[in-house]
Amino acid sequence: MSKKFNSTEIRDFLTPQKKPAFMESCNVDAWTQTMGDIAMVKVDELCCKMIGALRGIHTWYHTAHVLAKGTGFAGDHVHLYGEIYNEITDQLDGTMEKILGLLNEESLICPRKITSHSLELLEMYDGPSDKSGHEIAQIALQIEKDFLTAMEILYKVAKAHEMMTLGLEDFIAGLANTHERYVYLLQQRVKSNRD
Ligand SMILES: [Fe+2]
Repeated sequence: MSKKFNSTEIRDFLTPQKKPAFMESCNVDAWTQTMGDIAMVKVDELCCKMIGALRGIHTWYHTAHVLAKGTGFAGDHVHLYGEIYNEITDQLDGTMEKILGLLNEESLICPRKITSHSLELLEMYDGPSDKSGHEIAQIALQIEKDFLTAMEILYKVAKAHEMMTLGLEDFIAGLANTHERYVYLLQQRVKSNRD
């Protein structure tokens, strides 16, 4: 006999434990209250926020690349923040093209909206200036964990709206896989006390 789930179990399954603050203005709390609320989330607005968030993360890493310092300077400058910010340039390109391809809504690829959401994200985290190499990596690690949660939300909202395609699923999973790798790199970097 198949198991029957109640609405609380379904909600718990669909809702990540911890949501990044930058998603809150999208009324995440409201849509997590009932299954019906998930359908209320505007997918196009969420996609626009994701582009802005990624742009903000890109700017953050670019400045971290320049502001890397201390004994880990060479590795941080070139192979950690340097490689990540360059990779995110391509991720941004792919994300914007994917969203435009699926939704065909050109107003979502608006530089003003993207910059505005980008600032929203950047205001949530300390910048890398006047921080030690260890502190910079700690902030980056938190950004990555939050971004993975945000992608989980996007995935679930897209499914709830029945707009998930094989290609979108692959795209989100691929992006998440790459950022999970960043989590690994940063987790190792913050273990400075084991130098
Ligand atoms: Fe550079």
